[in-house]
Amino acid sequence: MALRRTYSYTQSCDMTIADELDVETGESAVSGELDAVLSPFDPELFFAEYWNKKALYIKGHPGKFAGLFDREGFLRASHKCADLKVGYTDENGWPAHFNIRPDQIPEMLGKGKTVCASVVDLDEPALTTFLKEYKKSFRVAGKFSFNSYLSPDRAGFGLHLDHHPVSILQLEGQKRWWYSSEPGLKQVISNVSFPVDRDVLKLPWVTVERPAEASLCEVVLSPGDVLYLPKGCWHRAQAIEYSLGLTLAMESVSLLDLIQTALLPKLNTVAFRDALPGYPNSSLGAEMPVELEELFASSLEQLRLLIESFSPSELYAIWNQVEAQVQNTRLRAETRSATNLRSVVSTQTS
Ligand SMILES: [Fe+2]
Repeated sequence: MALRRTYSYTQSCDMTIADELDVETGESAVSGELDAVLSPFDPELFFAEYWNKKALYIKGHPGKFAGLFDREGFLRASHKCADLKVGYTDENGWPAHFNIRPDQIPEMLGKGKTVCASVVDLDEPALTTFLKEYKKSFRVAGKFSFNSYLSPDRAGFGLHLDHHPVSILQLEGQKRWWYSSEPGLKQVISNVSFPVDRDVLKLPWVTVERPAEASLCEVVLSPGDVLYLPKGCWHRAQAIEYSLGLTLAMESVSLLDLIQTALLPKLNTVAFRDALPGYPNSSLGAEMPVELEELFASSLEQLRLLIESFSPSELYAIWNQVEAQVQNTRLRAETRSATNLRSVVSTQTS
């Protein structure tokens, strides 16, 4: 039986806001070099104090991401992105979304809805170059990709958390964010959204309480600003007049992915794939057929021997293989099939 844990989020904001640092460096970050993206924040401090631990807001300057992506690029990408959708709240208060065609974008914006284009980096050279360079600074066995959000005034997604870290790059206009400075959930197997008017959410794998509004940090992102959120940080956002941003999703494989990758090739044998025998219903009592008992016992013994033959260093080697695969190729479909990556497209990010 799966363990159910109850988490509550009550902590207050701490000193994770770096806006007191000098922001007048004028350095472009379109190359994707981590130093430039985090500038003026220290990358070593970022990895030591914030990566996977705490949210970080970095004040930028308007030219920081100039030339990386814009509204024209959004419309171009809308024709070839993985998914084009708008979010809404259904009749029961649950966040939901529906897919749209590119020619519906003006209509949706006119109705006050945020349009999300998922995986916009495909065939966008500036974004591809950025991601390739940015990924060099990370050892993450997983895929980095960009989603983009175009919002009219006051539009944005409601309170939720994502199962992977994200970095939000503000490109045009402004957006107000509310977020928890630390993860509300430490272990996250899917994105979690709160329906309106509900303070406790019971999921099959966890029960969560809505974080107190006063506990959330609040910041307005302007062009050039960056907001890093570890996986599991609560957040919601709302555009101020107009907003265009990129969300850099940093996905990674799970332990289950690695174990499957390690074991499945060795279990893909004729003996394991052979169909099990069937029996006349009238011939079976409460006892297990001897034939099945012997087969199950010998198969489980093989499985035990196989598992015992693995060591942590071998799993680490497979983890590194996944990392190398993702580093060296675009691998959207290939990576998913080869490593059982949990998911390619986030269904609820903002
Ligand atoms: Fe999100």
